[in-house]
Amino acid sequence: MTALPTSSRSADPLAFYPHFRAGADGLTLATPAKLNLFLEIVRKRPDGYHDLESLMVAVELYDTLELRAVPGGAVELRCEPDTLGSGPDNLVHKAAAALRAVAGRPDLGAHIRLTKRIPTQAGMGGGSSDAAAALVGLNEIWKLGLTREQLVAIAASIGSDVAFFLALPAAWCTGRGEITAPEPPPRRALDFVLVLPPVGVSTPAVFKRLVVPVGPVGGDRLRAAFRAGDPAAVGAALFNRLEPAAFGAEPLVGRLRTRLAELHPAPCGALMSGSGSTVFAVCRDRSHALEVAAAFRNSRPADEPESRVLIVRGVAL
Ligand code: C5P
Repeated sequence: MTALPTSSRSADPLAFYPHFRAGADGLTLATPAKLNLFLEIVRKRPDGYHDLESLMVAVELYDTLELRAVPGGAVELRCEPDTLGSGPDNLVHKAAAALRAVAGRPDLGAHIRLTKRIPTQAGMGGGSSDAAAALVGLNEIWKLGLTREQLVAIAASIGSDVAFFLALPAAWCTGRGEITAPEPPPRRALDFVLVLPPVGVSTPAVFKRLVVPVGPVGGDRLRAAFRAGDPAAVGAALFNRLEPAAFGAEPLVGRLRTRLAELHPAPCGALMSGSGSTVFAVCRDRSHALEVAAAFRNSRPADEPESRVLIVRGVAL
């Protein structure tokens, strides 16, 4: 895999994905998960969606997408573990279909293997990330030459979070989430503890329960703390308007978030990501994250189902 570039942002979205080539027709990409460090709802729109403001950051937890161009016009997708749907609803299929339609090339085919590590229905954008990487990778192996802007337009038609994964590693996202402005990441990436509950939360169910705020809060304090790379200030400014609705839909997620925030040693802050179910803690550094993760595992009440606990770092430029 090539390392992420240390130079400034490139117009080539492939540059932001760790990847390697297998001949002229094959490409393997590592597709990152995201966390929302700030998420506010601005208004409900006439089309049923919600305008929002969110700081999204990529973290070093990856699915693997292996692509090979084949003649004959069929796109075959295999997923591991195969409990995950590899049918037409999978966003990777939607990405391939949308790309072929825009390019006017129904003759293009591909064999795709997706190895999932990012949990689904977890608020970490796993399906969206796979779809964005499929757009970038298929554009490459099908030699379509579409620009980043053209891929962004297709991404927005697949799902609200897909465009973020063409604005890695951090972006301020508005509109439905699909309008992205690159956010300068800190020189030293943040360290997180992830708590992945054994239950997922459905995004439409959370938005249905949401109470849209009369006076939305702003994200300037969080953005300044993030740019400065100051974990204590980031922890103090974390915010997610979807928490009460998600905790109502799945009370375990709320209990995990409270337990994580109140641990000894205390993390810098704790929050739910996206519409849940993942909750995460911001930590001072890797050794603080190890302590927080151990304290979380060791303080589980007997009646609380076990969650996966992972330590991850933000993706740096
Ligand atoms: O765009 P995506 O398919 O990811 O959205 C899933 C669901 O989440 C939508 O059908 C909608 O109910 C809700 N949603 C919303 N406002 C957003 C994003 C998602 O209401 N900005």
